[in-house]
Amino acid sequence: MDTLQGMKRTHYCGELTEGNIGEVVTVMGWADVYRNLGSLIFIDLRDRSGIIQLSFDTDIDAQIFEKAATIRTEYVLAVTGEVVKRSSPNPKLPTGMIEIKVTELRILNKAETTPFEIKAETDVKDELRLKYRYLDLRRAPMQKNLILRHKLANIARNFYDENGFIEIETPMLTRSTPEGARDYLVPSRVHPGSFYALPQSPQQYKQLLMVSGMDRYFQIVKCFRDEDLRADRQPEFTQIDLEMSFVEIDDVISVNERMIARVFKEILDIDVPVPFKRMTYKEAMERFGSDKPDTRFGLELNNISDLVKDCGFGVFKGAVEAGGSVRAIKVDGGATAFSRKDLDALGEFVKTYRAKGLAWLVCEEGGTYRSPIAKFFEETELKAICDRVGAKAGDTVLFVADQDNIVFDALGALRCEIAKRLNLTSKDQFNLLWVTEFPLLEYSEEEDRYVAKHHPFTSPMDEDIDLLSTRPQDVRAKAYDIILNGCELGGGSIRIFNTELQQKMFEVLGFTKEEAWARFGYLLEAFKYGTPPHGGMAYGLDRFVMLLTGADSIREVIAFPKVQNASELMTNAPAEVDDKQLAELSIKTQIATQE
Ligand code: AMO
Ligand code: AMP
Repeated sequence: MDTLQGMKRTHYCGELTEGNIGEVVTVMGWADVYRNLGSLIFIDLRDRSGIIQLSFDTDIDAQIFEKAATIRTEYVLAVTGEVVKRSSPNPKLPTGMIEIKVTELRILNKAETTPFEIKAETDVKDELRLKYRYLDLRRAPMQKNLILRHKLANIARNFYDENGFIEIETPMLTRSTPEGARDYLVPSRVHPGSFYALPQSPQQYKQLLMVSGMDRYFQIVKCFRDEDLRADRQPEFTQIDLEMSFVEIDDVISVNERMIARVFKEILDIDVPVPFKRMTYKEAMERFGSDKPDTRFGLELNNISDLVKDCGFGVFKGAVEAGGSVRAIKVDGGATAFSRKDLDALGEFVKTYRAKGLAWLVCEEGGTYRSPIAKFFEETELKAICDRVGAKAGDTVLFVADQDNIVFDALGALRCEIAKRLNLTSKDQFNLLWVTEFPLLEYSEEEDRYVAKHHPFTSPMDEDIDLLSTRPQDVRAKAYDIILNGCELGGGSIRIFNTELQQKMFEVLGFTKEEAWARFGYLLEAFKYGTPPHGGMAYGLDRFVMLLTGADSIREVIAFPKVQNASELMTNAPAEVDDKQLAELSIKTQIATQE
């Protein structure tokens, strides 16, 4: 093998342009595509910035040519040579007009045949990609994603710095926080039987920093939540987290709109209009069946309960009588877009959201209707429904009848599914939306009590405070989420900053005063010593990058992500540990043996 000695890189491969023609340059990287034409060898050399073609010619230097003939893909090379115009340009490559005529070649390292080919487009299974992630990360799209991620973090860091925010680190070994998910626990050696929790978010610390008078804090920080994985969820993920003192909702929103606008401008060169649209939670649910609506397409929900409450179709009538509702989505051109089989499939789809079925109605030319439920209705009733949803000949109307939460869930998901099937969305369109006035509490059947919808430190809206004792379910919170194309990019709230209201909140959540003090005493105590009004929010950095790159999963924008069962395929974490280690931690494991 050759050494690097005395050789200095002058350019990255992808940086070279026609402007460099005539210059002698030195580049280093990996052998990508290799072609040997007998008296000519071409090698594409790849580094982080792109690809440049190297040419080796027997006429120029027979020795170098022979050495080049031993190169295989993924060998690590350093070469020097003159940049020349290519005789057969490749317009698909940014450097496709030029090549380097190699006059010095060093083979710095060999490579065994890789388990999969390193190329931009790949259909290699995810498991293999993740097992050899370091090779997967050689692929251009992965490098592009990680570079974009770095850029986004940089822009955020600079922006918050310029706006008076200070980055402060908060502990990773901390106490269990009530953020809604399960904690990752770390056993303490020094305190046998006691555990640290890895933070689900720095929520309480950042609020305490406001008590300290730090005024504006931010942090790009790892968070840990032991919850089921999805395309937009990982057990460890990164937040851009911030908190501000002496602010109201509009202050937090406006500084963050400027941050987001800067990200779009600097990364995608897109001007997003500020201020962004805002929508209350109630409107989002009524119109889109979701608190994170994708507003790139219509397919809005229509409440038709009043039109069907006395109709002859028992399912509809019964749902309204039971305090639920009947809601409908109109699909333009649904008559041709959906076959009978498609409608059956959509029926199965809504069942995964607990709906009992999906009724449908096709409006035909001449004012007639095709539908399995038409027989239960008068002609005038059907017309009234179609008028309400704006259906005309050729359109299809889809109905779900049930309790409101099921109807919203099912139709909210259905409209996204239909948009996907009918290709109604574009990854190049970015709809930013604030959803506001979330309910403060939601009732948990499982726990038989109210739980905080966001977290227990979120402030109720001033005008709703009196309802805390009487109608907790109707109390709205000073909470807001930023939604991008139907994905929750981030969220936050104005916090409770007085001890009495915080105690009242814990009471509504079913904690006795003693329990609240036992768990959150340090916070309640801190609030006694002059706490400023404060609020903030946190973004999911991984989700932000995913949406900006158009990736389908946050896995594509995380260097070493975990898979569905929360393991990491390259290192095989999590793994068993030595008995000695367990003994030091005073831990005995008890694993049920499976047949
Ligand atoms: P929240 O729990 O809404 O708020 O989280 C903020 C944002 O973090 C991202 N996120 C995730 N990303 C990837 N994988 C996960 N498992 C995951 N969980 C959350 C989402 C989400 O919008 N402390 C509060 C913020 C505040 O009130 O200031 C908090 O953590 O994009
Ligand atoms: P059935 O009379 O049960 O055969 O149902 C007639 C049609 O109504 C079928 O297309 C069902 O999918 C649909 N349906 C059943 N239950 C519901 C429901 N809760 N909401 C909407 N449609 C339903």
